[in-house]
Amino acid sequence: MTTRLKLLFTAMVLALTVAAGNTFEADTVGGVFRLNGEPFIIKAAELHYPRIPRPYWEHRIEMCKALGMNTICLYVFWNVHERSQGTFDFTGQNDVAEFCRLAQKHGLWVIVRPGPYVCAEWEMGGLPWWLLKYNDITLRSRDKRFLDHVRSFENEVGRQLAPLTIDNGGPIIMVQVENEMGSYGADPDYVAAVRDIIRQSGFDKVTLFQCDWSSNFEHNALPDLLWTMNFGTGSDVDKEFARLRELRPHTPLMCSEYWSGWFDKWGAAHETRPADEMVAGISHMLDRGISFSLYMTHGGTSFGHWAGANSPGYSPDVTSYDYDAPINEWGIPTDKYYRLRSVLLRDNPLAAIAAVPDPPLPVAALPAVRLSEYAPLTAAATSTVHSPSPLTFEQMDMGYGAAIYAATLAETATDSTTLDVPGCHDWARVSLDGRHIGTLNRANSVTSLRLPPHAAGARLELLVEGMGRINFGRAVSDRKGITSDVIVGGSPLNNWDITLLPDAYERAVAAFSATDTARVARDAGFYRGTFTTDSTHLIADTFLDMSGWGKGQVWVNGHALGRYWHIGPQQTLYLPGCYLNEGENEIIVLDLIGPEGDPIISGLTKPVLDRLGKAEVATAATRPELYEWDVVMTMDVSAGDNWQTFELSKPLFGRFAIIECGQVWKEGDAPAIAELRIVDTDGNDIDPSRYTIHYVDSEDFTSGNNNAAKSIDLQESTRWQAATGAILPQLLVIDLGDEHEIGGVRLLPTGSLKSARLYLR
Ligand code: GLA
Repeated sequence: MTTRLKLLFTAMVLALTVAAGNTFEADTVGGVFRLNGEPFIIKAAELHYPRIPRPYWEHRIEMCKALGMNTICLYVFWNVHERSQGTFDFTGQNDVAEFCRLAQKHGLWVIVRPGPYVCAEWEMGGLPWWLLKYNDITLRSRDKRFLDHVRSFENEVGRQLAPLTIDNGGPIIMVQVENEMGSYGADPDYVAAVRDIIRQSGFDKVTLFQCDWSSNFEHNALPDLLWTMNFGTGSDVDKEFARLRELRPHTPLMCSEYWSGWFDKWGAAHETRPADEMVAGISHMLDRGISFSLYMTHGGTSFGHWAGANSPGYSPDVTSYDYDAPINEWGIPTDKYYRLRSVLLRDNPLAAIAAVPDPPLPVAALPAVRLSEYAPLTAAATSTVHSPSPLTFEQMDMGYGAAIYAATLAETATDSTTLDVPGCHDWARVSLDGRHIGTLNRANSVTSLRLPPHAAGARLELLVEGMGRINFGRAVSDRKGITSDVIVGGSPLNNWDITLLPDAYERAVAAFSATDTARVARDAGFYRGTFTTDSTHLIADTFLDMSGWGKGQVWVNGHALGRYWHIGPQQTLYLPGCYLNEGENEIIVLDLIGPEGDPIISGLTKPVLDRLGKAEVATAATRPELYEWDVVMTMDVSAGDNWQTFELSKPLFGRFAIIECGQVWKEGDAPAIAELRIVDTDGNDIDPSRYTIHYVDSEDFTSGNNNAAKSIDLQESTRWQAATGAILPQLLVIDLGDEHEIGGVRLLPTGSLKSARLYLR
């Protein structure tokens, strides 16, 4: 063959391959996924493009490839794309189509999860805050207004990503409908509406699926969608698929979120999950031909104000989304990575040739930078709103930030009085006539304090910061600012001046031009400094040490690095080197409390993600004296780990439930409870979103964070476990929030607890 002919032939073969295209299907007769007709096990790595600086996208994708993965799984985060209603942005850091193309470039397939709700420990679970400008909207429902906004967003997603589905020659093999709807409610018609919207937006040929937990997927399961299960490290894989296998014996099996680690919350111990257990779970699935997506394979960072909050209660998530994942927050392979890699290479020797890539930039320390310019908070204000009663941020058209709520106390008080702000969302510094009085904190349920005696005309000020909006459970309609009346000495306080401090870099910069910056205070406000990179101070990744500061946010060269808070466990902020300039660089800190000492920041070579601050280590109530209470029921718990229900012989009233864990199945085991519900006389759960932990005897932190809150976090995969070696009985006291008529208890044990007694008060 002549060279010309050869070239022509090659071109024809290529054209044929492309024209033939690839195919992907879920074979529900053969029980396998098929790629181009051949059985295919999906080994997906979950990555979130907003949590990775764009210059690092390709590196993180290559890391997943070198790990032995064949697919990237990603959410589409509505609220980064439609920051204000009707204006869409899919460029730069938001260019999700480019992220998919990069995966394709490296021979990886893509699974897209376009929400609209995504959970993900992301502000409001990905929903845009402006939906809450409707006072009465029901999110994740068939509320017409909600669905109309969903439709217009998904149409844009379709415009970006539908051309990249496999039938169009792209890498996208599957698209998810909604996200874990079973832990929100039972409304299959709503899920069907979302499915239709997604189909109409261009995903009409690609495989659609829905994911849930094995305990609740039947609540919303649609007959025409593929069903996948989510569970984490330590789960019993066969049990997780048992019910699905019963209902659909020939469906291909997939764990669509296999949790490699877990997320951290402010004020709670750092989370980890053992590498051995994680790898064992994957190995077990591979042996059975079960597909999986490893959530997270690389978690990254919830930059800026994007970290969400967990509920029940209010538990804001930290900025780092390291997740104890195989690839750590700054892109470096961990021990987990290498252990998992050897398992994945077992089945995929081809990937062995994909060497683990070097990180784009080194990690280096940054010498101390003094932030010598200061501007007060009010210098960043945009406007002041006058209102008879307090307004929420949403009512004042502000999405994120803080506001100063000020009002005058009309009456003289010769004694101290109570200030009550039940709707303090989320954290507030209270001052009277400029004097600091105390702090309110929704996360600790501290929403009232004592005001000192004062004269008529005293000025009350609350600096209220809105932290991440709740991303899990019914509480996602989480409005910010002050969402209730402010009660002083029993009466609502009126006539408010509300000064808005929206969270935006431009406002921070404006603060410095609006004020004489010479004064250096150790007060709440903005702090600014500069530093230079050169041959000794490299352009490199670093971790800003915020441990000497109070609570706030940091921008470097205009890039929002995220929130910090002295209570920990996170004490540093990841500063990716790609955000640095050669030559001069600017750091601005907004601190709502003020630094402890000199306003200095240095960069460390390692993050500190596991150091709880002294100030707010949980102080529980004292141990209840059991003789003052009556045992109302003995619960003989079976050794399995299924939900078990225990009925009282007659209904009783109470607000506090004491669970006295007296016996375990195996000597030496610590009692543990994955989930606990108190039920009413009809057997329905008394609203768990109002439960708080009133007291616990002990908590285990050796095999992860197994604190008491895990028994009421609605997450079946986490548990409260007493400390190893703790003496029995171990008490756990739940406050239901109010008095209720109680019919019994539902309990999800973990196999260790054998017998417990219930006391009510
Ligand atoms: C669920 C959600 C995810 C994430 C994990 C916990 O599985 O679907 O978005 O919130 O929990 O990390």
